[in-house]
Amino acid sequence: MRFPPSWLDELRARADIVQVIGQYVQLKKNGRKHWGLCPFHGEKTASFSVDGESQLYYCFGCKAGGSVIQFVMDYERLEFPEAVKHLADQLHMPLPQMEDDPDYQRRRSQRDRLLECNKEAARFFHQTLFTPAGASALDYLKLRGLTDSVIRKFGLGAAPNGWDTLTKYLQEKGYTAEELKLVGLTVIKEAEPATETSPAKPRRAFDMFRNRAIFPIIDQYGNVLAFGGRALGDVQPKYLNTSDTPVFNKRLGVYAANLLRKERHLQRVVLVEGYMDVVSLTQFGVPGVCATLGTALTPEQAKLLKRFAPAVYLSYDGDSAGQHAILRGLDILEAEGLPARVLDFPDGLDPDEFIRRDGKDAFDALPALTPASYRMRRLRSEHDLSTQEGRTEYAKACAAILSKLEPVERENHLQELAVHTGFPREVLLQQIGLNASAPAAAAASAAHPQQPRFNPRRNSPAAQEQVRDEELLISLISTGRLPQDIASEEDFSDPLLQSLFAELSGGASPASLVEMQSDEAVRARVSKLLLTPPSENLDQLIQMARECLDRNRLKRMQEQLNEIMRSLNTLSPAEKSAALAQAKALSERMKELRHTK
Ligand code: UTP
Ligand code: MN
Repeated sequence: MRFPPSWLDELRARADIVQVIGQYVQLKKNGRKHWGLCPFHGEKTASFSVDGESQLYYCFGCKAGGSVIQFVMDYERLEFPEAVKHLADQLHMPLPQMEDDPDYQRRRSQRDRLLECNKEAARFFHQTLFTPAGASALDYLKLRGLTDSVIRKFGLGAAPNGWDTLTKYLQEKGYTAEELKLVGLTVIKEAEPATETSPAKPRRAFDMFRNRAIFPIIDQYGNVLAFGGRALGDVQPKYLNTSDTPVFNKRLGVYAANLLRKERHLQRVVLVEGYMDVVSLTQFGVPGVCATLGTALTPEQAKLLKRFAPAVYLSYDGDSAGQHAILRGLDILEAEGLPARVLDFPDGLDPDEFIRRDGKDAFDALPALTPASYRMRRLRSEHDLSTQEGRTEYAKACAAILSKLEPVERENHLQELAVHTGFPREVLLQQIGLNASAPAAAAASAAHPQQPRFNPRRNSPAAQEQVRDEELLISLISTGRLPQDIASEEDFSDPLLQSLFAELSGGASPASLVEMQSDEAVRARVSKLLLTPPSENLDQLIQMARECLDRNRLKRMQEQLNEIMRSLNTLSPAEKSAALAQAKALSERMKELRHTK
């Protein structure tokens, strides 16, 4: 979805960042910025700054930063288009005509209708739970130990035992049988002509969910996407789920995303397998619980979880299917760069059964295994450690795992491995060294893509100082108050700063530049850069910029000069005299520069 840039500019102009953030965070003016307690990390002294001039915020504590839209995205946990709509709504700004494409409009209005239909259905199921038609479902949920309050929190419901109660109800509300089929609430049985043995049957529409307890699947924006229906006893299938529809793809979402969104300062998401596990752990007071929707964890879900917390605890069932799913889940989380831990439930229990049997304290006391210890634990159960052969195979397999760890983490496990296998530490280290050779090393470097290289000596103090000057320069230029031609692209060695300069010269606003950055760390750097510099005075600003520029230009010329001098003895006489002439011109320009300073 693309908003017209001019419309976005207007939105940013109308949405005063101080006022918008002021609704969420208590701000106090100090100097030219507003300050408050950062909503993105717990703190007691205000290091969160909001700058009305550049329309950016930046936290000096946790380095969160960005534009007003970024703030709404991070605070409300919305994607860009949703954050924009949220702001437009607050400002009573009508959304722009998105696209003239009639098909787009059609799909959009179909989507809205199907979501509305699901919402009606969820209300119907929830209300039914507290009527005689829902009594058996309510009894079942109570039997499973759920309280009224958690039932309401998750909007659980009852599908009555009739053939088409919900279908009729929704048809009366104006939804067609085709729409109800499309969204997965109704099954249509086509008409059958009479045969010798049976009379003709008319086309019939009946409810997909009958006589089940209902778990509505709600996304982080509050849309009801789909339903899971639990049989009220030993009926197969145990769970009936909406299959994929125009508004639901089970590989993209997680169950309870709507509740996750509301939890602040989550340290970790607890990912479980079942609806019941989510509801039950939540009732016991475990924060941040959600579940995949009857599939193995997908990369898309891992990306979604990343928005909610900095780590994931895989808390799958203690049975063998669950254990297998953990290994695959760890791979996915690793590939997405999301730190993971494993809760390994004893006695083949699932999280719901465990917390009911042993309580919340026992749950909290479960060790959070690192991926490596979990993988080693699994290997241990696959090898017979009472034989020399088993111990050898086990040691080799573990060495392969440990070779991928950082040395300090590896050390934590080495001792344990030595004890389990009887091999001395040195031997294990050697084995690990073998494994760490070419392929593993290549894989490790692929997992950590190289930083953009802009200067081979970028870590030298001189290079760092140069980049600091360039940063100050960008910050000064972003005020829009310096003469247009004060600098040029060649004044920047850092590619990011160079591109920011080009955009600013092209008239882009600081806030839009921040929004362009998809990488979080880069965004933080850019936000900090583009905050208004401390000085008010235009002459002062210009002088600061000139000083930065001169210092850097001088430095670059000096380097060029050194380069020429070094290359002299390798040159032919003709080349040599050309090079010397160049060197002379350079040193004259340097003299001039020093002079004007
Ligand atoms: P489980 O069989 O572990 O269910 O399936 P559970 O959560 O322990 O259920 P209870 O405690 O018996 O009520 C885990 C998840 O797999 C999906 C569901 O999403 C379920 O929550 N599932 C399971 C199905 O979709 N269909 C099934 O028939 C079974
Ligand atoms: Mn269960």
